[in-house]
Amino acid sequence: MIETLVLAANFRALGLTVAAVVVIAFIAVFIWNVSVAKPELGSEIELAANRKPYLTDEELEGPKLDKALSFALIVLGVCSLALPFYWLAEPGRQDGAVEAYLTSFESRGKDLYLEGAQCVNCHSPGGVGGGKDYVLQDADGQFVANAVWNAPALNDVLNRYSDEEVTYILNYGRPGSPMAAWGTPGGGPLTTQQVQNLIEYLRTLQVQSLDVNDIDQSADPEAAQDAADALSAEILAEVDRSLADGEFDTVGEAVFNLGLFSDFQNGSNACARCHTAGWSLGLTTQPNILNKGVAGCGGGNPSGIGFNLCNGSTLERFPDDTWKMPDGSWLPLGGLVEDVDGVPTQYLLSMDNEKVWLNSKGAPVTSRLDDGGEPIPYLVIDDGDLADCRYVSQLWTPATGQAYPFAQGEAVAYGIRDDGTTGFIDPEELTLRDLSSEAFALSDGRLVDDCTVVDMPERTSQAHYDFIYDGSVAGAGYGNGGQGSGRMPGFGKSLPPELIQAVVDYERGL
Ligand code: HEC
Ligand code: HEC
Repeated sequence: MIETLVLAANFRALGLTVAAVVVIAFIAVFIWNVSVAKPELGSEIELAANRKPYLTDEELEGPKLDKALSFALIVLGVCSLALPFYWLAEPGRQDGAVEAYLTSFESRGKDLYLEGAQCVNCHSPGGVGGGKDYVLQDADGQFVANAVWNAPALNDVLNRYSDEEVTYILNYGRPGSPMAAWGTPGGGPLTTQQVQNLIEYLRTLQVQSLDVNDIDQSADPEAAQDAADALSAEILAEVDRSLADGEFDTVGEAVFNLGLFSDFQNGSNACARCHTAGWSLGLTTQPNILNKGVAGCGGGNPSGIGFNLCNGSTLERFPDDTWKMPDGSWLPLGGLVEDVDGVPTQYLLSMDNEKVWLNSKGAPVTSRLDDGGEPIPYLVIDDGDLADCRYVSQLWTPATGQAYPFAQGEAVAYGIRDDGTTGFIDPEELTLRDLSSEAFALSDGRLVDDCTVVDMPERTSQAHYDFIYDGSVAGAGYGNGGQGSGRMPGFGKSLPPELIQAVVDYERGL
């Protein structure tokens, strides 16, 4: 009982103490608050904001205004400097961003090439080409031989194919060869982005293109031209070597089989690897072309993917249409076309890959204009080459007195001089020249002098040459009734023009 009371008393004491503390603290805060409060300033009217005294006019229009104007000037300055600088730096920033993406694509592509997809196992480091063990079977699946399938060099693959075409090859592979389908569309493991990365990496490996149009566009045209010349010389030397060593009989055959004996460029620029059964399995495997003597008669297995080029089928696809007709007239239609000032204009390619424009009548014209402002036609000289001459005679057959119409250059009179000798009469500087040593006769009977000669390929079929130069485009027709699959590479960037011509001639003889 007592304990309960004590407990109750304790609770009450506690409650009272807390109450006392609260009251005392309240009073203390109240007193402190009153003591720190500021004295009242005045009436409500006196305190109104709009009645508060402000700066004087002198101060407002003086230092205050100056300060505001200076601030505005500084802001204006910052804006007018920063915006142009931003504008100037923006393209650089964009380029930098693009480059950074490209670099990371390239390095991811490289990882794939070396590790992820192991392209390196067959195509070798740097894409120089290699081989893959392959078991050759007959039609019934019976073992025939152990062989090595040539995996072409990839350091020139973008010279032969467009990006889209390489994408197609990577996506779907080459059925019937060790090259598997890598992309998802073909059932392979690589995503579209990974295939793209691989192509960006391959781009870093590419050798110089031999096409003059590509050379001019590069960053350092001179170095690129040198590289192209060196590559060209290397290919020509290899062809010469293979002929000297008796490997082939003609330049065309050597190009068609480029690298068969020597593994030059790992066969990447050979035609036979796709057009001749068994070529990719090399010389030591049976069956092979040399034993069977069926070069270019592709189809059959194991082979690449090209068509049979034998039994005149190439001539049916690309009938003769040489740009210089036997009667001296010009290639009627076909040839290459490009827009010149919005007008589609035809041109021919010279041996040096120069564009030779054709006028509306189909005649090749020089870059010089006649008095009427029309481009002057070239003269055709021996073997179909073109000549741009300063002097052209009217008289070649004085006996008949026939005057030939001249198409270009300055007119030259050739005839019997006052002293009875024959030769040039006009202009003066030609009069001393002896016709037989200084000038040459054209096949159509005109005399000319001071000529620049354009070396033209002896084409039997412009369309055939162009097809080998450009390759096939998926969905686009070619030649006579050909339907392009996009799988025939273009060789204009990887073979010198004279070798393309030689291989065209070779094919036309198959
Ligand atoms: C198992 C060996 C092997 C592997 C791995 C391989 N390739 Fe190939 N590749 C080949 C062979 C063999 C060919 C030639 C097929 C033929 O003869 O038509 C080829 C052809 C190609 C071609 C066409 C070239 C041309 O000029 O015809 C490209 C492009 C290519 N491979 C890229 C690649 C890339 C990129 C990879 C890695 C994702 C890769 N390859 C992995 C063996 C291989
Ligand atoms: C990578 C394989 C490949 C290589 C290498 C190749 N071709 Fe072809 N070629 C093809 C394919 C595939 C076709 C069928 C046309 C198409 O797919 O558009 C073809 C078609 C042709 C045709 C037309 C045949 C016809 O009747 O339609 C000619 C001509 C030809 N190739 C010549 C050549 C020459 C010359 C070379 C070497 C400079 C060469 N090819 C290298 C794959 C190849």
